[in-house]
Amino acid sequence: MNASLPSLSSPWRLSVAPMLDWTDSPCRVFHRLLTRQARLYTEMVTTGALLHGDVPRHLDYDAVEHPVALQLGGSEPADLAACARLAEKWGYDEVNLNCGCPSERVQKGAFGACLMAEPKLVADGVKAMRDVVGIPVTVKHRIGIDREESYDFVRDFVGTIAEAGCEVFIVHARNAWLQGLSPKENREIPPLRYELVHQLKREFPQLTIVLNGGVKSDEEIERQLQHVDGVMVGRQAYHEPWQMAGWDQRFFGQAGPAESREQVEAAWVEWLDHRSQATRRHWPQAMRHALGLWNGEAGARRWRQIWSDHKMKALPAREVAALADAARRGIAADAAEHQSSNRHPQPA
Ligand SMILES: Cc1cc2nc3c(=O)[nH]c(=O)nc-3n(C[C@H](O)[C@H](O)[C@H](O)COP(=O)(O)O)c2cc1C
Repeated sequence: MNASLPSLSSPWRLSVAPMLDWTDSPCRVFHRLLTRQARLYTEMVTTGALLHGDVPRHLDYDAVEHPVALQLGGSEPADLAACARLAEKWGYDEVNLNCGCPSERVQKGAFGACLMAEPKLVADGVKAMRDVVGIPVTVKHRIGIDREESYDFVRDFVGTIAEAGCEVFIVHARNAWLQGLSPKENREIPPLRYELVHQLKREFPQLTIVLNGGVKSDEEIERQLQHVDGVMVGRQAYHEPWQMAGWDQRFFGQAGPAESREQVEAAWVEWLDHRSQATRRHWPQAMRHALGLWNGEAGARRWRQIWSDHKMKALPAREVAALADAARRGIAADAAEHQSSNRHPQPA
């Protein structure tokens, strides 16, 4: 890796993407048992929900989540400014504006990806937020909308918003097709074009450019860090959480918090039980975020089945953990024995 790259010291070097219904506060607490350094993002919260809804419900989080960014969905500069103020008051480390979500609901509200057609409005929103808060105001966007595939489009978008003072751009490296694709398809079908994101970094070396979309392996993260300041990982981090256990050492040169899957599981179950007692919120909603912890290991499937079993929901988390763990260990021991007898066949 090139030691002269700014990415080595950037707070945006590695992050976990904002994901609606997924990266809620319990999910972020779980991720913090695996990495202390990666930056975490909330799910998108709309300005309407914040200004007219239950603010603590949307903004409460656990202190261990820092550094944590609040992602906003909205387009009205005055509303964005009011919400950015709330984000700062609540202690968030960053406020991020969503200009990449293609869902129809979001399009009706005239925000998300369709804002890419209105860079001036985004610039006004960014300026309004920057005028009232001291925390970084960042933007997450696509490389284009619909069939607009020229580099100039995304370059002009970034250029206009940078003039309003935005210094950090998180770029999901595919277009959003606003008609005819579901949000899920819009994360899979429009082709990834990383070279456009690399070109943005070359053209705007003073800006922090973070690449997002389709990044899976640590080797790929490393490759991308040769070209950009940071990488944001979404689905891979969520589905294969144990991968994050290696991130602090590999990408930040710091010891990570996770010694073993067992230790992460024990800390997580303790947190779940503590939370159930303190708030009477039951564990299954939170536990779903951790179901990938043992992926790739013998007994993982059985472990997941036990945690997902409806009948278990009445028990405290620690009791389910004991059952799931015993089953997993049994299968792992059988698998190890089978392997060793294959290696050292017994005489008949
Ligand atoms: C379930 C789900 C919900 C998402 N919700 C949001 C969101 O609220 N805000 C946002 O900017 N992107 C959202 N995204 C997009 C991700 O942040 C990310 O840009 C996308 O998944 C591509 O990155 P990946 O290939 O690493 O997953 C969501 C993605 C998923 C899978």
